[in-house]
Amino acid sequence: MMHTPVVASIDQHGLPDQRVMVLREADRDRRLLRFHTDIRSPKVDQIGDGAPVHILAYEADARVQLRMSGLGRVVSDGPEADAAWAESSLFARRCYLAEQGPGSQSGVPTSGLPTQVEGRKPSEDQVAPGRTNFAVLMVRIDCMDWFSLAQAGHRRALVEWEGGVPHGRWLVP
Ligand SMILES: Cc1cc2nc3c(=O)[nH]c(=O)nc-3n(C[C@H](O)[C@H](O)[C@H](O)COP(=O)(O)O)c2cc1C
Repeated sequence: MMHTPVVASIDQHGLPDQRVMVLREADRDRRLLRFHTDIRSPKVDQIGDGAPVHILAYEADARVQLRMSGLGRVVSDGPEADAAWAESSLFARRCYLAEQGPGSQSGVPTSGLPTQVEGRKPSEDQVAPGRTNFAVLMVRIDCMDWFSLAQAGHRRALVEWEGGVPHGRWLVP
């Protein structure tokens, strides 16, 4: 699904790490993809302000695979993050109320959420403290490998941007 691509980064041991994320916005002109995440999650330290990120998306109906790479940037303050927070639903903002960050250990199965918001729609006031844990991940795409699966013959193309100028070529699938 293009809506929930796999986002890969490099961990502190130099190993690949990947996870599914919801794609919130694709800005074609600026080649920017926007994701939302918890600032306490390991991927935030891995990507920081300019680490390489690889994104894999597959659209089953169109049978199209996209492999994209570029530099990622995590932004937690300023108008970009404020706007992304404001446009998120109450349920989406509730995730950021978790008392401990993603990946923290727990003795029992848990959502990590405070009991007063567990299993119910929170109010604006209740989600407000989650803002400090919220961050936006922006990825600027520099290279895109497009693959179309078709019985009549697959097709594949590579587009690379240098100084904002796209260079495309066909590849053997
Ligand atoms: C369908 C689906 C959508 C998800 N969307 C997000 C998302 O938008 N942002 C996010 O940080 N994690 C999302 N997750 C959870 C991540 O896959 C991951 O487990 C979590 O962010 C911890 O990642 P990390 O340990 O690599 O930082 C989603 C998981 C699934 C299954």
